[in-house]
Amino acid sequence: MILVTGATGNIGSALLGQLHAQGAGPVRALTRDAARARFPDGVEAVEGDLADPKSLKSALEGVRSLFLLPRLGPDAEIVGAARAAGVEHVVLVSSITVQSHPHLGPAEENREVERLVQDSGLAWTVLRPTQFASNALMWAAPIRDRATVHAPYADTGLPTIHPADIASVARAALTEPGHRGRTYALTGPEPVSPRQQVAALAEVLGRELPFAAISRQEARAGMAAVFGEEAADAVLDVTGGDLNEEVLRVRDTVVRITGSPARPFRQWAQENADAFR
Ligand SMILES: NC(=O)c1ccc[n+]([C@@H]2O[C@H](COP(=O)([O-])OP(=O)(O)OC[C@H]3O[C@@H](n4cnc5c(N)ncnc54)[C@H](OP(=O)(O)O)[C@@H]3O)[C@@H](O)[C@H]2O)c1
Repeated sequence: MILVTGATGNIGSALLGQLHAQGAGPVRALTRDAARARFPDGVEAVEGDLADPKSLKSALEGVRSLFLLPRLGPDAEIVGAARAAGVEHVVLVSSITVQSHPHLGPAEENREVERLVQDSGLAWTVLRPTQFASNALMWAAPIRDRATVHAPYADTGLPTIHPADIASVARAALTEPGHRGRTYALTGPEPVSPRQQVAALAEVLGRELPFAAISRQEARAGMAAVFGEEAADAVLDVTGGDLNEEVLRVRDTVVRITGSPARPFRQWAQENADAFR
């Protein structure tokens, strides 16, 4: 049995589809609200809250492999509950920032969860993706409302990854040999800047999308109000303010592991166009 956490999210929903298509055997999908969730036929929906590890008891029963999103609850307790339930292998989503920006708070927290899993006695695979194509959903409301999209570091290209590619690597790690004890840095196929992402969306939607570059200070005010100052600064650093080779480099990990080239941003835009209409 494979248990997928974050099953209704960007990576998890793609992973469920891929496991189902592969006929990977019994798969269980964790959500806090099964009535709202839609999963492929044959996938068992189970309710549980990672913030309350006691609620995971029935979700973990009979599970051998766990796909885990970090930092949604007390990870030490979650990993302990997995071990007690007989889980053998954890595939953990971390972040490229663990190696590109290890001094930033969110990266330190991800590194701590990596260590926890690596020291747990369970087999593990760590995925360190770059920023997701699905982050473009933050522009869905202004685009639907015919408003101008504002973005800092408008011409900084990062090798943005399609969440389905993270899912593809996770599927391989969960179902094929050779991935235990491995840490994979994952990127998309090419750098793509915010301006280029909005241009791709405009092409897919068939209309012009007004776009304006803004300064770090202008962006920071809005972001800090939502996420807090430290998180806002961290995001601004890793998306343009403090770049380095680790976060800029395109890697071939996705094609090496899955046999299929990493999906370009444009594909994500086509698949998700309805969110912007
Ligand atoms: N965005 C980026 O650029 C980026 C880059 C590197 C790493 N990451 C990492 O990627 C992960 C996000 O992945 P994603 O985009 O696939 O997720 P997502 O689309 O943001 O969805 C979040 C998922 O987490 C579940 N969830 C939230 N709180 C929960 C809780 N208390 N108990 C159980 N489930 C809970 C939600 O399930 P329900 O609502 O159905 O319960 C949902 O399926 C995060 O760990 C983030 O740090 C993101």
